[in-house]
Amino acid sequence: MLKNDLFLRALNGEALSRPPVWMMRQAGRYLPDFMKLKAKYDFFTRCRTPELATEITVMPIDQVGTDAAILFSDILVVPQAMDITVEMKDGIGPWLPNPIRNSKDVENVVVPDVEDRLHYVMEAVKQTKLALDDRVPLIGFAGSPWTILCYAVQGQGSKNFDLAKGFCFSQPEAAHQLLQKITDTTIAYLKAKVRAGVDAVQLFDSWGGMLGEVDYQTFSWQYMQQIIDALKEETKVIAFAKGCWFALPNMARSGAHALGVDWTCSARNARYLSGGQITLQGNFDPSRLLSPIPEIEKMAKNMVDAFGTQHYIANLGHGILPNIPVDHAKAFVNAIKSYNA
Ligand code: CP3
Repeated sequence: MLKNDLFLRALNGEALSRPPVWMMRQAGRYLPDFMKLKAKYDFFTRCRTPELATEITVMPIDQVGTDAAILFSDILVVPQAMDITVEMKDGIGPWLPNPIRNSKDVENVVVPDVEDRLHYVMEAVKQTKLALDDRVPLIGFAGSPWTILCYAVQGQGSKNFDLAKGFCFSQPEAAHQLLQKITDTTIAYLKAKVRAGVDAVQLFDSWGGMLGEVDYQTFSWQYMQQIIDALKEETKVIAFAKGCWFALPNMARSGAHALGVDWTCSARNARYLSGGQITLQGNFDPSRLLSPIPEIEKMAKNMVDAFGTQHYIANLGHGILPNIPVDHAKAFVNAIKSYNA
């Protein structure tokens, strides 16, 4: 039995005295102890070593006090398992030396046995569950097929993912083949994570907002929907699509248990567009954690006032930034935890 199940109860739509709170990318670079491990082990070694992934996942629970843990890993372990080479370069970020550019490249992409190729993730889930000792739930995650395609085709991060969009618009057949392979792998991957012990999953469509409304449906959402359909009976599913407020009406009908919202969409608009019933998650501007602590506390309270305490999970509107002082992150979390108290 979980000692703190606020997060899962919010996903169930249960009545709560205060909203649960966690932060996207909370297992990461703003934590001094994480930086010590980063100095010793390269990125994918940290991902592939269950003991390290466990230690990093638990850090924000011990040090910041969030109501849920998110497994330390990366969305790019999925394309790696599909035989797409992914490196992490200092100062650049994700780096794919052999990007996908045509149908021949897509043919070479495999749909792997995830229990075999991503065994280390399942092992990390099991070890993390033991280390958490039922204090808080554990979230597993995957990138959306579109967001993975963005990296697989572009070869690195980008302001506009022009090559990825160009690939989709000029070679739609190859693009859909690739998206389907990623979707099939992701479904198997998330099901394996659920079997290994995660309590909920989040889909990160970080680059969904690169697409217009119609293209979003065609190249992203229909694949997100397949994943939600395949998972929603087995676990709780959160769909986060950055910059995609226009898709909220569709997303609210998808069977997902909660929808992520970024800070460019007001609480009122998000409630209106999503129909007022479904649990929403977000949407503090991550840069606002640079404000003085009293201002963070005031703005965090305003955010809960705006979303309401019910059907709501407090979070940032995207990942926490590396330059956030830990006491500012803590002040945000504590402001939510003391709401109404
Ligand atoms: O949320 C968590 O705390 C769990 C860990 C997590 C990481 N990446 C660890 C990480 C999660 C959920 C992710 C997801 C992820 N990875 C996304 C979706 C979420 C988002 O922020 O939009 C994306 C787009 C990626 C791809 C990726 N991996 C990028 C863009 C980068 C940053 C490169 C850089 O240096 O800025 C990474 C690397 C990465 N993933 C780091 C961490 C802690 C930093 C590099 C390092 O620790 O060496």
